[in-house]
Amino acid sequence: MAQVKITETVLRDSHQSLIATRMTTEEMLPILEKLDGIGYHSLEAWGGATFDACMRFLNEDPWERLRKFRDKVKNTKLQMLFRGQNILGYRHYSDDVVEYFVQKSIANGIDILRIFDALNDTRNLRTAINATKKEGGHVQAAFSYTTGEVYTLDYYAKYAKELEEMGADSICIKDMAGLLKPYDAYELVKALKETVKLPIQLHTHYTAGLASMTLLKAIEAGVDVVDTAISPMAMGTSQPATETIVATLAGTPYDTGIDLSKLDEITKYFTPLREKYLAEGLLNPKALKVDVNALLYQVPGGMLSNLMSQLKQAGKEDKLTEVLEEVPRVRADVGYPPLVTPSSQIVGTQAVYNVILGERYKMATKEFKGIVKGEYGKTPVEIDPDFVKKIIGDEPRITSRPADALKPELEELRAKIPQGLIEQDEDVLSYALFEQVALKFFEYRKAQKYGLDGDNADAALGVHSV
Ligand code: CO
Repeated sequence: MAQVKITETVLRDSHQSLIATRMTTEEMLPILEKLDGIGYHSLEAWGGATFDACMRFLNEDPWERLRKFRDKVKNTKLQMLFRGQNILGYRHYSDDVVEYFVQKSIANGIDILRIFDALNDTRNLRTAINATKKEGGHVQAAFSYTTGEVYTLDYYAKYAKELEEMGADSICIKDMAGLLKPYDAYELVKALKETVKLPIQLHTHYTAGLASMTLLKAIEAGVDVVDTAISPMAMGTSQPATETIVATLAGTPYDTGIDLSKLDEITKYFTPLREKYLAEGLLNPKALKVDVNALLYQVPGGMLSNLMSQLKQAGKEDKLTEVLEEVPRVRADVGYPPLVTPSSQIVGTQAVYNVILGERYKMATKEFKGIVKGEYGKTPVEIDPDFVKKIIGDEPRITSRPADALKPELEELRAKIPQGLIEQDEDVLSYALFEQVALKFFEYRKAQKYGLDGDNADAALGVHSV
């Protein structure tokens, strides 16, 4: 039994989960020094969807945000979420882009990279892990937690062992859908502790109402670090409340060492922001209620709302139960992937087609063919060869690491950005991940810098409007 450490998620996952990643840097800056003084193990502050959201919705440079954080957070480790070979984007990038992204993340202030792959294919983690080690960062290798007959304790223990052998400094159980139940968490943490020597961290979501209990059972089983969010930005689709966990453990052998009255200053800072988000409609009360669908169908909350809107568009809302029953069958056909971006969308959409067309696989989506082909990596279970043939015919499958087929692309990308828009080395990475969004942001940034708008801004950009 030992002290439990806390990672505070308010700067990243909590607002990604509750308000679609819309918290601005300005809203976070005034509280950073106080957050730094709490005694957290780390602040999860960057990566995930924040990078895209900064440029797309907030007209902010994500790199600038990170530097501002680092400037104010002098003692606490800053942590980011990194999707293996996808980095923070939606396709596989070549190794030189992954390496450069890691290098710049650490150079701008990140200490811990939580690295995971949607399919739990370790080949998609290798480049990011090696680059993090090379740059002196902490590798927190994560696995996507899911349920299903192949996902035994043995599966997870073996996976964790492999991550340890690859050079991980710690292991994270990443329960992105909030499926991990308290007693299962106890068994899982015990199994991992018996298998690897590394610290174990638990990340879960409150969606199904389990998460506080799940953390407690994981703590009893010896988990080292847990993710929580300060109460105004906790629960619902976010993490359990920091204060609750700190108070629960106070005076026990697991005591976090965090002072509850100090935490109150953080609570007081975010309370009016929560009210503002509610008033603006950014925080939907629906995101705050317990959602049992995850428990009934093992379907993450976000996936369920996607399925409902797809069915609505097709005028087949009455087919929801059939689709929810079809999802596990499709998932089994395609090698039991965890349901997380992008596999959740791929499996969900295919299940919708299978039901509304009245015949299974009458039509397979491009992405579904891609997963069968091996474009995303190796699925946890081999796909039946007859099924492969049914979906992609005699097309060749990719059995090597998907990024092996990619040529270095950094120089080419750099050359593609129009002259005069690049202000820093990091811009090529923003462009690599979100090409159109980044260009639009670069143009906005340039216009802002010169205090120009409208026609003048066009002139500054070399665009001659009449
Ligand atoms: Co999460």
